[in-house]
Amino acid sequence: MAKAITLTGVGVASLRLSEIPDAVAGPGEILIAVEAASINPVDRAAVDPGYGDKMPGSAPWILGWDLAGRVTALGSGVDDIAVGDRVLGFSQWFKGGPGLHRSLVALPRDNVAVAGDAVPADELTTFGLNGLTALQVLDAAGLEEGQTLLVIGASGGVGGFVAQLADSRGITVLTAGRDTPPADFAGMELDGLINTAPADPTSYLEAVRDDGVATSVTTPAEAERGIRSSRVGVRVDRAGLETVAGLAERGVLRTTVAAAYPAEQAAWAFEADGSAGRIVLTF
Ligand SMILES: NC(=O)c1ccc[n+]([C@@H]2O[C@H](COP(=O)([O-])OP(=O)(O)OC[C@H]3O[C@@H](n4cnc5c(N)ncnc54)[C@H](OP(=O)(O)O)[C@@H]3O)[C@@H](O)[C@H]2O)c1
Repeated sequence: MAKAITLTGVGVASLRLSEIPDAVAGPGEILIAVEAASINPVDRAAVDPGYGDKMPGSAPWILGWDLAGRVTALGSGVDDIAVGDRVLGFSQWFKGGPGLHRSLVALPRDNVAVAGDAVPADELTTFGLNGLTALQVLDAAGLEEGQTLLVIGASGGVGGFVAQLADSRGITVLTAGRDTPPADFAGMELDGLINTAPADPTSYLEAVRDDGVATSVTTPAEAERGIRSSRVGVRVDRAGLETVAGLAERGVLRTTVAAAYPAEQAAWAFEADGSAGRIVLTF
């Protein structure tokens, strides 16, 4: 039997370490022994306060959007990855994919990237959801080398990767957080902003030049002065995941893990302070 963190209701008291049947790799799938899986804000919110009737399907739920682990078996048709490979994985449990807070999972080939052994598993998993989101939102902004960008929420999981990625592309990056008033940036004529904070970025728009760009992974800014405003929702993207895994392996993208908890201590992990880095479950 495999292990999973299951959620039966609202609050950490509704989390259990449960036994579940072993997954098997179907056609086009990869079976992965999970070493580590992040707790992201979207998982925390699912536990408390919960998403009510927006939760997919019915209880018990298995949460978790990313993993680091090792390939243990391959489904038919998968021939470019090997048993024993270290991998980074991504799955949208909110949209019908399997939640990744479990010890063994089968994922479609497109949800997996080979990652090498340079980055420890508890760090590697944090690149799955947040690294992929950062890549997709920065690509959507379409900024180029030499341009200027304000990242709101840059001390967070997504924002930290956006800032590092943009810097690696030769974009000049300014950062804002909860304690940085929009007035600090007013009139700077920046080429764009990316909002990764649980906040409305509209008040930061005065930092962006006419016809600039404002992308967000949370609330989009209200467009004005020809500024192109949009919200990006992360999507399955094999090439993007491979790009992120490669950047992590080469040390171009770095991450901060605040603490790793064994799956047996999931309730403590969900209550732990993640403001200084990601909280990770290990299996
Ligand atoms: N659209 C998608 O596909 C997608 C994908 C992944 C994540 N998300 C969402 O993106 C958000 C960020 O995720 P995360 O993992 O990066 O979260 P996180 O690690 O908790 O970081 C949140 C960041 O937002 C900042 N912040 C909080 N309140 C703020 C405010 N009122 N004004 C300005 N900055 C503020 C925090 O800065 P301080 O240090 O100043 O508090 C921190 O830097 C979450 O809401 C998450 O659900 C969306």
